[in-house]
Amino acid sequence: MSLEKILAWVPDGSAAAALARQVDYLRLPGHVAVIMDGNGRWAAQRRLPRIEGHRAGIDAVRDAVEVCARLGVEVLTLYAFSVENWKRPRSEVRLLMELLKRYLRLELDTLMRNDIRLHVIGRAGELAPDVREELAAGCSRTAGNGGMRFNIALNYSGRAEIVEAARRALAAGMAPRDLDEARFSGLLYTAGQPDPDLLIRTSGEMRVSNFLLWQIAYAEIWVTDTLWPDFRARHLLEAIVAYQKRDRRYGGLKPEPAAVGQ
Ligand code: IPE
Ligand code: IPE
Ligand code: MG
Repeated sequence: MSLEKILAWVPDGSAAAALARQVDYLRLPGHVAVIMDGNGRWAAQRRLPRIEGHRAGIDAVRDAVEVCARLGVEVLTLYAFSVENWKRPRSEVRLLMELLKRYLRLELDTLMRNDIRLHVIGRAGELAPDVREELAAGCSRTAGNGGMRFNIALNYSGRAEIVEAARRALAAGMAPRDLDEARFSGLLYTAGQPDPDLLIRTSGEMRVSNFLLWQIAYAEIWVTDTLWPDFRARHLLEAIVAYQKRDRRYGGLKPEPAAVGQ
């Protein structure tokens, strides 16, 4: 049972343990997507170079992956590098890629132990060959796992993904009448996956920054001021508890509470 898996992992009497008891395990978000933001600000607060914030952010990634897998979330998508992030200084981009490679190498055992399947979304083909190799190794090692799917969004752009999907439809010679929302979804990187139910953004920014633009149509958005390197299991559990209190209407009306005695 998911609660037991979480309790076996978080410290007894911790805030995370208390929050884990508040979660309704029958109504978990199927897909949790996270815009991991605030690494630079975390470093600046400590008068450290930005890269130290990215380094510290790895611990938060570990926590998020493990807690979601233990909860029983079906899909976790982490936004690690956007197409627009190439605008950053070369030295920062280089170090981000090094951290990614190191993460993949060191965390493969954790992914295997938790039965997690790794999947890359984004223009992976434009990444450096050594990064692509590490990603391919991680994806193939975990391909047979049947537990949580872990999408890592790399060189990702929501608009580019939509344009690529449209190009694929045209290249396949699809007739206009044959293209509908379900078929179009099937041409995206996330084909076959449920849309995100919960979108988390850390460090307080109220924007989606080109992330999963098609897929988040009806996602519940939860923004926290916590900076990504400080984000831990308890913050994720807090987001899930808040999500479960939301009233999702999809444009319809709130269901009437069942009348007593009927
Ligand atoms: C998020 O932290 C990590 C990436 C975008 C790769 P930032 O580096 O954007 O941190 P801030 O927003 O400058 O604080
Ligand atoms: C979004 O964060 C991209 C990732 C988390 C990878 P940014 O820091 O790049 O977004 P903006 O620039 O604040 O919109
Ligand atoms: Mg940022």
